[in-house]
Amino acid sequence: MSRRLHTNRSSLAHKLAYAARHPGRVRPYLRRLVRDWRLRRASGGDHVAYYRAVMRDDTARDPKSAVGSATHERWVALGQMQFDYLVRHGLAPGDRMLEIGCGNLRAGRLFIEYLEPGHYHGIDISPEILLAARQTLIRHGLADKLPHLTLVDDLKLAHLPDGHFTVVHAHSVFSHSPVEVIDECLAHVGRVLAPGGYFDFTYNRTLGNEHHVLREDFYYRTETLTALAASHGLVARPMADWEELPHQQSKIRVTHPG
Ligand SMILES: C[S@@+](CC[C@H](N)C(=O)[O-])C[C@H]1O[C@@H](n2cnc3c(N)ncnc32)[C@H](O)[C@@H]1O
Repeated sequence: MSRRLHTNRSSLAHKLAYAARHPGRVRPYLRRLVRDWRLRRASGGDHVAYYRAVMRDDTARDPKSAVGSATHERWVALGQMQFDYLVRHGLAPGDRMLEIGCGNLRAGRLFIEYLEPGHYHGIDISPEILLAARQTLIRHGLADKLPHLTLVDDLKLAHLPDGHFTVVHAHSVFSHSPVEVIDECLAHVGRVLAPGGYFDFTYNRTLGNEHHVLREDFYYRTETLTALAASHGLVARPMADWEELPHQQSKIRVTHPG
């Protein structure tokens, strides 16, 4: 079993060993530490306000790296991986998709191109990344597809209709979310899912203690998330075929029972 899944990245021992292996990353880490401390204080303990400020800062530097891609090539490849996976799982142009934490449409631009006009809804907490998403739409000539992009400050999905979405997708969002945010999403996503629809999300998986690094990166045990889904009357199953792909996060699919 991979040692990575047992690592507690918040422990001092891990941080010291990591610093010894990657001395060049110590200064950027310390910069992030100071930045995050400042932003956390300014947001008064509200995670969404804090992470929105993180995204504002990161997007001002570079929208592609703000969503986790160090290069344009990685941005393209990560979007393609998400798209290909869902197409392999039967995504069809007639599906109605909600993408939670759509970012600057790394995958969203491919979904928008593929789906029928008006069938893609993206939501995000960051105004700056949504402006970058708009630029992606313009760059890729996707105006005729009439995608919906909405700024949100919670995951209650209250502006969206009952039973509408056949596919809900959240890539690399719960990896940045405390459990209260995930719980809120799971409490409401069942309402907007169409009969037979599913909600896929990725998360950082740990086999050891659950932990976070700077409240930016969160690590969960699979059982915690499947139990959370069950507490909202949903069924969650880990997606084994996603583990075969070159990506560090794991994926869970949530459906209505039956
Ligand atoms: C790592 S990026 C991934 C973006 C996109 N899913 C992709 O794969 O390119 C995470 C995105 O989720 C958004 N986000 C984080 N927490 C969120 C929340 N509670 N609700 C909605 N969006 C959120 C961030 O603003 C950011 O755009």
